[in-house]
Amino acid sequence: MKKIIQNGTIVTATDTYKADILIEEGKISSIGKNFDRTDTEVIDASGYYIFPGGIDPHTHLDMPFGGTVTKDDFETGTIAAAFGGTTTIIDFCLTNKGEPLQKSIEAWHQKSNQKAVIDYGFHLMIGEINEEVLQELPRVIENEGITSFKVFMAYKNVFQADDATLYRTLLAAKDLGALVMVHAENGDVVDYLIKEALAEGKTEPIYHALTRPSEVEGEATGRACTLTGLANSQLYVVHVTCAEAVEKITEARNKGIDIWGETCPQYLVLDQTMLEKPEFEGAKYVWSPPLREKWHQDVLWSALRNGNLQTVGSDQCSFDFKGQKELGRNDFSKIPNGGPTIEDRVSILFSEGVNKGRISLNQFVDITSTRSAKLFGLYPQKGTIAVGADADLVIFDPNVNRTISSKTHHMAVDYNAFEGMNVTGEPVSVLVRGEFVIQDKQFVGNPGSGQYLKRKKYGEQTNTRLVEEKR
Ligand code: URP
Ligand code: ZN
Ligand code: ZN
Repeated sequence: MKKIIQNGTIVTATDTYKADILIEEGKISSIGKNFDRTDTEVIDASGYYIFPGGIDPHTHLDMPFGGTVTKDDFETGTIAAAFGGTTTIIDFCLTNKGEPLQKSIEAWHQKSNQKAVIDYGFHLMIGEINEEVLQELPRVIENEGITSFKVFMAYKNVFQADDATLYRTLLAAKDLGALVMVHAENGDVVDYLIKEALAEGKTEPIYHALTRPSEVEGEATGRACTLTGLANSQLYVVHVTCAEAVEKITEARNKGIDIWGETCPQYLVLDQTMLEKPEFEGAKYVWSPPLREKWHQDVLWSALRNGNLQTVGSDQCSFDFKGQKELGRNDFSKIPNGGPTIEDRVSILFSEGVNKGRISLNQFVDITSTRSAKLFGLYPQKGTIAVGADADLVIFDPNVNRTISSKTHHMAVDYNAFEGMNVTGEPVSVLVRGEFVIQDKQFVGNPGSGQYLKRKKYGEQTNTRLVEEKR
């Protein structure tokens, strides 16, 4: 059945205007006024904004990590995402050294197929580069539409790759049309600092932050930027937390190197003191890189405002406090790293960003949706409100107040990292390809209705590369 969303204010990354949206066969077929209403469901959006569905470029669902598996899987995680106004996620597919990449990709399809309620794609972890991997990569891009590769510069003896692997991945990505993503921390130095702290009997959660100082993030970020310039390739730095890393990214961008940066809601609103909470509660706030001293938040907001950081991903990677975070009760290095953030990403950006005057309304749409669609080969199918685009839409009440709490959230975990935080603005209804997934704040979707997205190559569409003429 056709749908019309009427009387709302449409907001894209560039425009804000009042018009009605006609939806046919899952697509936006027209934007205007006075549409024929025969056999059409009419949805009134008076007083509401209509945003393109949020795109979360950074999630870890059903992922083994830190001796356990993330609590949210593709069903609970995508339901929570939808409640929060996200209609597409790009999840990280882990790989194992010595095994075909395709085996890992199949495993990720198994995890997500029949479960996701919103659309999804995969990034692929590269842990080694050898002849087999180089032979497989073109197929990964052409057949699977996976056009972004992730290299970890940290998590020694687990995921960490060496600099040669990063450099060779950058070279391969340039040739193949993929965007390389890095977790930028100096894993060797972190490993040394952790061993030193534990030897001194420092076992509490705060030492997680103290053994991963911002300098090691800045150093690794700078190294990755330098290698990208040397390879004349392209790089996206995930979960940027600190001034040192922003500085390196800005410096590289100013030199014309094709670098993009993401931060996450937790780094924008939480700080290092959370790790000092008594009764081991600090473990709830263990992320890598860690939460920083509060002043870094202003640097991150400024970088979003002035365009030196371009996206906010959730880095959703949830573990229960009871039974999972508790694995590190006597040793901070055994606390599973990560937290539940997929549901509140959009609301926090709106409330703390737009309402507090730190970013504009159109920047908010760009940061939470459009820019990720462009960088990760989904634009203009996703990430905008335009004729021909998928009808992935969020009907958003900008005035409602709520308090974030694990009592009301939809993630499967037993705590919320933003517990007690007041936010203004919330999705009322969310549509994916023209079908309601959330209607009047109720879940009405179906597990398995989310579609796998084969993505375009990096740079295949306009407005993606930082410096087109360099090519
Ligand atoms: O602590 C974090 N960030 N957990 C998720 C894995 C990663 O490094 O992104
Ligand atoms: Zn990471
Ligand atoms: Zn992550």
